[in-house]
Amino acid sequence: MKRSEHSSNSRREFLKKLTAAAGGAALTPGLACSAYSRVSGDQIFEAPMAIASGFNGEPAVNKAVEVMQNGGDVLDGIIQGVNIQEADPDDMTVGYGGVPNEKGVVQLDAAVMDGRTHQAGSVGALENIMHPSKVARLVMERTDHSLLVGEGALRFARMHGFKEENLLTDRARERWLEWKETLSDDDNYFPPSDDNNSSSSLWKEFESHHGTIHSSGLDTNGGICATTTTSGLFYKMPGRVGDSPITGAGLFADTNVGAAGSTGRGEANLQNLSSFLIVERMRLGDSPEEACLKACERIAENTNISRLLDDDGTPNFNVRFYALNRDGAVGGAELRSSGGSMKVADPSGVHEVELAYLLE
Ligand code: GLY
Repeated sequence: MKRSEHSSNSRREFLKKLTAAAGGAALTPGLACSAYSRVSGDQIFEAPMAIASGFNGEPAVNKAVEVMQNGGDVLDGIIQGVNIQEADPDDMTVGYGGVPNEKGVVQLDAAVMDGRTHQAGSVGALENIMHPSKVARLVMERTDHSLLVGEGALRFARMHGFKEENLLTDRARERWLEWKETLSDDDNYFPPSDDNNSSSSLWKEFESHHGTIHSSGLDTNGGICATTTTSGLFYKMPGRVGDSPITGAGLFADTNVGAAGSTGRGEANLQNLSSFLIVERMRLGDSPEEACLKACERIAENTNISRLLDDDGTPNFNVRFYALNRDGAVGGAELRSSGGSMKVADPSGVHEVELAYLLE
């Protein structure tokens, strides 16, 4: 891969466009979005309620609200919700069936945060355990630590009775094998034969998604919790940990304000602490959607190396944000328009909320 260089001309053009969009005003702290972003508008829902990423979150939000309506805790609800995706072999971005790392090993990241106690627990690069979100919860509840990784996280999970299992499904293994066989013309692997069905429409549909599941919930007592769980970047380097298990990056929750979480390019969130930023913007009075757009704007402003920029100087990747506040207002945004949405469940059922976006 080419080393990063500054692309000062296109970058200057991009910032000029954003400034023009803001009517010539300085970019920060205001939101330079009028010519670029679609604003969908926040919507208000009734507690108990839960939000999740739109492409895979419906079963999770349904389950979370069902648990809370039956008297269960909000943290139990959202974790039981995302456990459905973690166990689903057809969601190749989370848990069992997740796309493996470059060595063909599934390594999972997950975190939980309890906004009532400001406690959080996480696991990174965890192998062989289908439900990393449950292990993350135990890190929070049974240790004085916030994050366990790799072998230590696995040992901790075993200590608590988690069963080890092979998380690599045939479908994910075949996809990884195809990636390996087409990686280079210069190695000893032959490319897959033409009758390989790897370009099936099912796979194409899946590839168009940004994986990971985030879910946050609000109960009738005003309790707010969040969780994010993922198998991470496809074919990542062994040991790579993304934003999902990092408090402030892949999720953040504060019962006095609200919660936020993300899916998409984790490195951008790690470098901008986007979920923390969103909750802090809501604390200052932004609506959830405004706060999510601010996080998009911050990433766009801070992305200034050429390998991450399109010809027009805008970021060449996407991130999506989902947020709720303590009043039940819900909104989200994505950096680049891709028709993203979020799922919201409340006592009236499941709803879809479109994400706003910063860039066409
Ligand atoms: N946002 C998930 C990851 O980058 O791993």
